[in-house]
Amino acid sequence: MKDLRQWIQALEHNAPKELIRVKKIVDPNKFEATAVMEKLESKGRFPAVLFEAPKALKGEDHRFKLLMNTFGTFSKMAVALDLPPETPKKQLMEEILKRQDLEKEPAIVAPQNSPVKENTLVGDDLDLNMIPIVRHVEMDGDRYFSPIAVSKNLTTARYNISWNRMMYLDPQHLAIYMSPRHLWTYFAEAEQTHRNLPIAVVLGHHPAFHMTGALLTPLDRDEYKAAGGFLGENIRITPSLSYGDDLYIPADAEIVIEGEIVAGQRTVEGPFGEYTGYTGPQRVSWLFEAKAINFRSDGIIIDIFPCKTEHMNAHLPIEASILRTMREATPNVIDTSWVDSGGPLTIIIRMKKKVEGEPMQAAMAAFTASNFIKIAIVVDEDIDPTNLKQVMWAVSTRVQPETDIQNLKGLQGHVLDPSLRHEIKGSGMIIDATRPLDRPFPRRGLVPEEILRKVSLRDYLDE
Ligand SMILES: Cc1cc2nc3c(=O)[nH]c(=O)nc-3n(C[C@H](O)[C@H](O)[C@H](O)COP(=O)(O)O)c2cc1C
Repeated sequence: MKDLRQWIQALEHNAPKELIRVKKIVDPNKFEATAVMEKLESKGRFPAVLFEAPKALKGEDHRFKLLMNTFGTFSKMAVALDLPPETPKKQLMEEILKRQDLEKEPAIVAPQNSPVKENTLVGDDLDLNMIPIVRHVEMDGDRYFSPIAVSKNLTTARYNISWNRMMYLDPQHLAIYMSPRHLWTYFAEAEQTHRNLPIAVVLGHHPAFHMTGALLTPLDRDEYKAAGGFLGENIRITPSLSYGDDLYIPADAEIVIEGEIVAGQRTVEGPFGEYTGYTGPQRVSWLFEAKAINFRSDGIIIDIFPCKTEHMNAHLPIEASILRTMREATPNVIDTSWVDSGGPLTIIIRMKKKVEGEPMQAAMAAFTASNFIKIAIVVDEDIDPTNLKQVMWAVSTRVQPETDIQNLKGLQGHVLDPSLRHEIKGSGMIIDATRPLDRPFPRRGLVPEEILRKVSLRDYLDE
């Protein structure tokens, strides 16, 4: 069975430099955990950091562990998908594309065979302050979880898995932020009939399970089945304490809070240091009421530092989905760079253009696939999309703004984009930086390939 502990072992075995254990007590409520992560990132270091003694406001400091930078590098994500740590991003994307279509039926297991049920607390015994919750940046409204929400559609019984940040309110309440996607739709449907929506808040599981939270699946696809396909084995699930068979929770998770998003109520949430790198405003968000908690002894919380590299990296499955939609529109798209260069809102698309118009088609498909994209830059196959110097050279030398830049109006913007003038309506830009096919274009100044192959630096330099 795959769980977070198995991934940590695999990482320590295959890529020991990718994990650091911190034994010293750290207070995540006083920005100490994010200060450590900030210092590492400023030195260009992105190891996963397992804080073994994070302080909670209540209870012992060693009850839970805190894991940050789980998605800090593609190597760690490769290990999550059973690939060698040195797997290049391009191959990782192809693996994600392969896995995102697979499905495996979830396996229902009894509570007594579910590690997550090792400890349970309900009702007044439940105080969320027993869990170390991270305060990330100075303006944050309070401490935040970066959990995966598992929800079940009250009509279709289909399960959804999504990342949704949650802010601490009081010992049994959190505020949840939902942009208008699947979970938001489930809740809107429940609220129309004055019903609360039960959800399971998963604070730690195998990273491949968390990656399922960023798959752009169709609304009617069951995401427990998709999680099984993505993990490469049936995901084990077990009845929840509060809702029994009406809401199954992941049996091999570290910590699961059960509860419901309350119909007819809203709460103030934020400010929040967003993945865009800016502090977003206070918003009117939704109220989550906790009913029970299930946790493994020494349970490990996965936390994402929102303004940093790992948050953008965690969107890699979304980049893979965008790539797929583009390839469906035109098979000549080779690869993309979004999370690792243009993110949060700009994507670079590399293609082997065969006819004029294809770059526009590919870029339009990217906009169709996701409202995370505001600017699309299309380059030829000789440009490495992850190398922004090369990309800017192509933009400088292959673009005539008058004809090669298109502005699109009235798109669904990204609500976290600080430049939006309207609540949700935005615009887009396509820069076609490919060479024209319908008129002569200068060749690049290159040393002949056959000479380059013959010449070795060792023959000419004392190195
Ligand atoms: C680390 C991370 C955090 C995210 N946080 C949120 C969030 O707080 N609210 C939200 O609506 N989407 C958030 N997203 C995006 C959604 O999880 C993602 O778009 C997902 O596909 C939505 O799933 P759904 O369409 O099934 O609801 C986050 C994504 C990542 C990778």
